[in-house]
Amino acid sequence: MDRIAALAARPTERPVVYDPPGTARSLHTAAARVLEANWTGASTVPSRGLYPHQWSWDSAFIAIGLRHLSPLRAQTELETLLAAQWGDGRIPHIVFNPSVPLDAYFPSPDFWRSSTAGRAAGAPRTVQTSGIVQPPVHALAAWLVHRADPGLSRGRGFLARVYPKLAAWHRYLLHRRDLGGGGLASVVHPWEQGMDNSPCWDAPLARVAPAPARSFRRADLDHGAPEDRPTDLDYGRYVRLATDYRDGGYADGTGAFAVEDPAFNALLIASEHALARIARELGATGTARHARAERLTGALVERLWDPEREMFCCRDVRGGGLIPERSVSGLVPLLLPTLPGRTAEALMRTARGPHFSLGDTTRLVPSYDLLGEAFDPHRYWRGPAWFNTAWLMERGLRTHGAHHPADALRRSVLELAAGSGFAEYVDPYTGEACGTADFSWTAALALDLLHDEPADDTRTASPTA
Ligand code: SER
Repeated sequence: MDRIAALAARPTERPVVYDPPGTARSLHTAAARVLEANWTGASTVPSRGLYPHQWSWDSAFIAIGLRHLSPLRAQTELETLLAAQWGDGRIPHIVFNPSVPLDAYFPSPDFWRSSTAGRAAGAPRTVQTSGIVQPPVHALAAWLVHRADPGLSRGRGFLARVYPKLAAWHRYLLHRRDLGGGGLASVVHPWEQGMDNSPCWDAPLARVAPAPARSFRRADLDHGAPEDRPTDLDYGRYVRLATDYRDGGYADGTGAFAVEDPAFNALLIASEHALARIARELGATGTARHARAERLTGALVERLWDPEREMFCCRDVRGGGLIPERSVSGLVPLLLPTLPGRTAEALMRTARGPHFSLGDTTRLVPSYDLLGEAFDPHRYWRGPAWFNTAWLMERGLRTHGAHHPADALRRSVLELAAGSGFAEYVDPYTGEACGTADFSWTAALALDLLHDEPADDTRTASPTA
């Protein structure tokens, strides 16, 4: 790992370009092989066994890495996803591949019934999708993909084609999903926030009557160890929430679960800044979008900042009040360039402190409070460290000038991605691989950290940066 360590130790390192020597080259080759094996011709599956379709936020993170291998494939990845957008603007969390057997993944297309149950919400007729969403990383991904090869992007009219779709997506989230009335978007299912079984959901989920275990068959346990995955009780509740949403025609506003989440909203804000840059590239000023992103940052601080815990927490819109749990989600807003300086300082203190221990006893940021009663170093989002949150934290640390910890985190990502066989997630203390292997976003985001220049312009607020 010497070469990787040396790369990561130099904050001013420019892009490693496409023919890195030594160990970096083997990491590049191994990551490219994972992305090649998981490419279906128009998009990338997160993993061949556990997740055999296209996932929304996975595709955005995958495109961010793919841009270093093939900017054209990265553009295609996003365009395939956007082709499944619903008329009301939502981007579905899964786009199903019709050639994959129905029993390969649960819940399958015949559960979601998008083209019939989603008709009023404008679900597409030609492709089957789920009816819920995932975090809005897409505009950020589109901008980074454009920047990898602006000539190709302009030649194909990439940004001109994706901009209206991304704008409609943000409109959906900011209007139909402002369920708390304070300007932030709510998620209506734990799968929407992406950290499915985070202890943050334990209290709001406790109000949901689980669907009977015999009413569905989980397919995930065919591919993942039960101790690494959510429990059957969690699944019963996921199924109940999704069933009720579907049976209500995927209309928003009445479900039992509604939570304002810091990472989901921080990604929306980061993507709004990226959309401003896209607008500017297309000839508009982008000023109104930057201003909206700043207003949303204010709402995020006002509604989700917990001064006692010195981090952001989730707000339970149905139960009222902040949920008193420390999740990595509450550190992700560090990503935002316009976060007040004292808030960013406090977040970095919290990341280094005993609850996350970054730069001390943990190798990547754990998904949940190391001191929390529910902490479990192997069970999905109840403790393990994930590579996408590490990538987001690396950006956040660098955005706020903390280059040394960002370098250390970058080094850990590069070492653990390759060393774990591109694991889906790892034990935060030991780096032991958990979940599935050859996981696409692990490979993609390691590639991005290997190649990306620290000075990319989405780390700053100014449109002229
Ligand atoms: N993450 C969920 C799963 O494990 C769905 O998005 O299947």
